[in-house]
Amino acid sequence: MSFKERLKKDNLPQHIAIIMDGNGRWAKGIGKLRIFGHQNGVSAVREAMEGCVDVGINYLTLYAFSSENWNRPKLEVRALMELLVNTLAKETKTFMDNGIKLQTIGNISDLPTNCQKTLADTIDLTKSNDQCVLTLALSYGSRTEIVDATKAIAQKVANGQLDIADIDEATISMHLYTHGTPDPDLMIRTSGEQRISNYLLYQMAYTELCFLDKMWPEFKREDLFEAIYNYQNRERRFGKTSEQL
Ligand code: IPE
Ligand code: IPE
Ligand code: MG
Repeated sequence: MSFKERLKKDNLPQHIAIIMDGNGRWAKGIGKLRIFGHQNGVSAVREAMEGCVDVGINYLTLYAFSSENWNRPKLEVRALMELLVNTLAKETKTFMDNGIKLQTIGNISDLPTNCQKTLADTIDLTKSNDQCVLTLALSYGSRTEIVDATKAIAQKVANGQLDIADIDEATISMHLYTHGTPDPDLMIRTSGEQRISNYLLYQMAYTELCFLDKMWPEFKREDLFEAIYNYQNRERRFGKTSEQL
């Protein structure tokens, strides 16, 4: 029986976050340039999106470009930005056929203007889709996100709009870029690295982590289903004992 057939419909993660890692190493492994790996990562993005819609995952968040990735060679950064624009244009049909609504998190104003324009157009085009919310993390860094939230909250206190005593966990969540999106239930990272790399630090307090040895261009929807299957066989205790659940 396939992993998909073994999934329990009543215990699906509502939100899956992915760190799409290993494009460069995959390409190097077959004697190609790193950018070839990024280009081949696009089909894996499609696998993840269609897999989520197929089994009924409501939120998918993909780490596409971190704030630290700006420090890569200029040529690679430029190629990644170009790939983003071309992919968004080419995948319009995938978004519409699957009812995928696009949104972004991160410092979008850092991106080249043509990227910002294509993103804004695609967000607008897909705004009424209701099967799955796809969030692209672009020029995203979780620490900056927390700094921005802190500033916004401090400003409200300074303006007298908010009382310090009323600041709670919900206040913080509401001021993060991800406001309105539930915290991830499952986080998948490919490439064998076992780290978070400045991704959704606040939001992942109780997320189940899944690290795969495969490189991102090798990722298939069956890998997604297997990760969900493993997730369903874990016990999320949230600090309680097994007996209390
Ligand atoms: C992930 O693959 C894509 C981005 C970070 C943009 P990498 O480019 O990090 O590939 P590796 O990890 O160097 O193999
Ligand atoms: C994390 O991957 C960022 C993205 C996948 C977009 P990196 O390849 O940049 O992470 P590190 O540098 O190995 O931690
Ligand atoms: Mg990497």
